[in-house]
Amino acid sequence: MSTLRNPDLAAPGHDKMNWVRRKMPVLNALGERYRHDLPFKGQKIAISLHLEAKTAILAELLHKGGADVSITSSNPLSTQDDVAAALASQGVDVHAFRGADEKEFDDFQHKVLDIEPTLIIDDGGELTDRLHSSRRQLAANVKGGAEETTTGVTRLKALAAQKQLLYPMVAVNDADMKHLFDNQYGTGQSTWDGIMRTTNLLIAGSTVVVAGYGWCGRGVADRSRGLGARVIVTEVNPIRANEALMDGHQVMRMDEAASYGDFFVTVTGNRDVIGPQHFTKMKDGAVLANAGHFDVEVDVKGLRTLATQVIAGRNENVQGFVLPTGQVLWLLAEGRLVNLAAGDGHPVEIMDLTFGLQALSLEYLLKHPLAPGLYPVDPAVDTWVAEIRLKALNVAIDQLTADQAHYMASW
Ligand code: ADE
Repeated sequence: MSTLRNPDLAAPGHDKMNWVRRKMPVLNALGERYRHDLPFKGQKIAISLHLEAKTAILAELLHKGGADVSITSSNPLSTQDDVAAALASQGVDVHAFRGADEKEFDDFQHKVLDIEPTLIIDDGGELTDRLHSSRRQLAANVKGGAEETTTGVTRLKALAAQKQLLYPMVAVNDADMKHLFDNQYGTGQSTWDGIMRTTNLLIAGSTVVVAGYGWCGRGVADRSRGLGARVIVTEVNPIRANEALMDGHQVMRMDEAASYGDFFVTVTGNRDVIGPQHFTKMKDGAVLANAGHFDVEVDVKGLRTLATQVIAGRNENVQGFVLPTGQVLWLLAEGRLVNLAAGDGHPVEIMDLTFGLQALSLEYLLKHPLAPGLYPVDPAVDTWVAEIRLKALNVAIDQLTADQAHYMASW
């Protein structure tokens, strides 16, 4: 039996799913094939992903492809309760609601593992974490899995390097059709969508401080500029700092940037990137948002300790922290992923690509049993997803002639 906030919310959830289905050519193409092939027949798939409409279409696809599917959310604030209800009404086992506390969140991860999965899809390593600790006895059943994020892949790399990884995992994040688009354009757009719909503030003419210039950070910085902001980037990596400079952004230390920013966006994957030493330097009214996987990038505990008062903002996703010096800092979505906790996640067309890679990577694992370890996405899968998208957009590209292929392959 599913665990939901309210099963009666299914109708608007179905509307959201129907909306996104129209713009997901990759998943639709897979759906056509899966109806006949049932590639996941007999498989039990446990999923921990942000539970919104696009994710529901992926879960539905795997279910239609023959699998028993059990799904929870990879963040306590990213579940959309109407979508969760809609998906559950279709026979998928769902354990999630928005605003789950720490214990409920952990219980839900365990509930999806109770199906004794043969395959997993993870976002940030929540399932893998439990399968390598309290649920270790289940790991032997797992034929493999796929990981969505940079943060999850970083954790898996550490586990694999210590030869501790108990089953094969595919690093979906590292595929070209994932990080080049999802991390950059997806995070760029969805982060600003979350900030703007939450605050209703003007970005043009403001100063935006972007912490981290990986694929996500550069997407956020580029969209900040597109909205008319001045952009300051903070980095720890000298090569990325040079990239940010050559992309036309200012680069400085957070210690200095703190006093300039109107908006701060953290996208580093690391902890305590903005802390008390920075809060005290910030302007009255500065907005703090995190777009990294975990809620550790802004030191929320430190902010709470420093503040003399916490005041309500314009909605449940904004809280004001009044500092002893009188200035108010506005924290969005409790410092959790602003694009999902205060928005709908990445645009539909982007998640179509990412989730196409997820489904195909699970299929790959079934067709090519692998030893425990971390594996890249099969290049043929990456190319197939790219081709389907071009076809859907009616975009044709040139092909190498035999002479050209020979020329490129010869000394
Ligand atoms: N929607 C579902 N999963 C997501 C993710 N990892 N990032 C952004 N939007 C999403």
